[in-house]
Amino acid sequence: MFADRISDLDSSGIRKVFDLAQKLKNPVNLSIGQPDFDVPAELRKVAIDAIEDGFNSYTPTQGIPELHTAIRSQLLKKYNYNPDKVLVTSGVSGALLLCLQCLVQSGDEVLIPDPYFVMYKHLTNLCQAKPVYVDTYPDLTITAEKLEPYITSKTKLLFLNTPSNPCGIVLEANNLKEIASLAKKHNIIIITDEIYDEFLYDQKPVSIAQYYDNVILLNGFSKSVAMTGWRVGYATGPEAIIEKMTMLQQYSFVCAPSFAQKAAVKAIERGSENERQIYRGKRDRIYNGLKDVFDVVKPGGAFYIFPKVPDSSASDFVERAIENNLLIIPGSVFSEQDTHFRISYAAADVVIDRGIEILKSLV
Ligand SMILES: Cc1ncc(COP(=O)(O)O)c(C=O)c1O
Repeated sequence: MFADRISDLDSSGIRKVFDLAQKLKNPVNLSIGQPDFDVPAELRKVAIDAIEDGFNSYTPTQGIPELHTAIRSQLLKKYNYNPDKVLVTSGVSGALLLCLQCLVQSGDEVLIPDPYFVMYKHLTNLCQAKPVYVDTYPDLTITAEKLEPYITSKTKLLFLNTPSNPCGIVLEANNLKEIASLAKKHNIIIITDEIYDEFLYDQKPVSIAQYYDNVILLNGFSKSVAMTGWRVGYATGPEAIIEKMTMLQQYSFVCAPSFAQKAAVKAIERGSENERQIYRGKRDRIYNGLKDVFDVVKPGGAFYIFPKVPDSSASDFVERAIENNLLIIPGSVFSEQDTHFRISYAAADVVIDRGIEILKSLV
């Protein structure tokens, strides 16, 4: 019944976790990939006002002009980057789907640093291209040196995600420059997913878009201001690519939600400095709580940490954690290996502390 392109799509890893979790009454939940705060009040007000004012129709496919202006001025200020084109999308997920549909097909290879955000793998498969996993263990950082052996004449695309899900790893400027020159040498297009860039704790923001033209930069408002259900993101990059994506959006998503685009303009103006400070405190709390017991890389951004399981497989360890009322995700959901586990510390401090206690009791 189903098309070939859908045959590799499965959600068995994560489903098993949620099946086990169903049995828990009041779990210590460190599994959720979204902020633990609500959309800030001033942004909710902008959205409500937009709806009440009748701003409820289709918007231009590419997004409303004031959001384009806000995105451009933010990128200019942050990175001195002035993209050819901007497309407002239905979240970063929408942008990812458009991007891959426009760029890859059977016979193409897509470099995915492992561990990875799950959508990269599944959308690559959906487009019938071949995911090529680049091993980044044990420091979980992708470098030009690690990438080079995986490049072939079929390599079309490279995914970067900084700060990363599931590891919270941040790529530094020197590293990005080397990756950019490698990509240039082999004519590889880079998709840089920067959705966690407002949660950056130890260094200034830097983007590979500063060093290489053939880059599609993706960002959105699901994490920085918790608009996960409102579905707004954007893609910027070379004119030809963004124009094709815009055309495909015209025949699929049509446009991002109208009221949410208005709120996104305000979100850029507002920033997320307060939330960043709070999450930095949570990052320190979880890292300090785990570092003496687990082999763990200190995350520089996002709201995840990815410790190594001391002996057993990560899936067995996570099963034991769930038996002890703690919800975490096995690394195999985000990786071709099953040795680590993901914690989301987007949670109240008391929940983080209870999670640390349970994890310590398991080793
Ligand atoms: C790395 C990464 N990219 C993209 C997304 C999807 O974001 P959006 O809600 O904008 O579609 C997520 C959500 O978890 C993510 O972790």
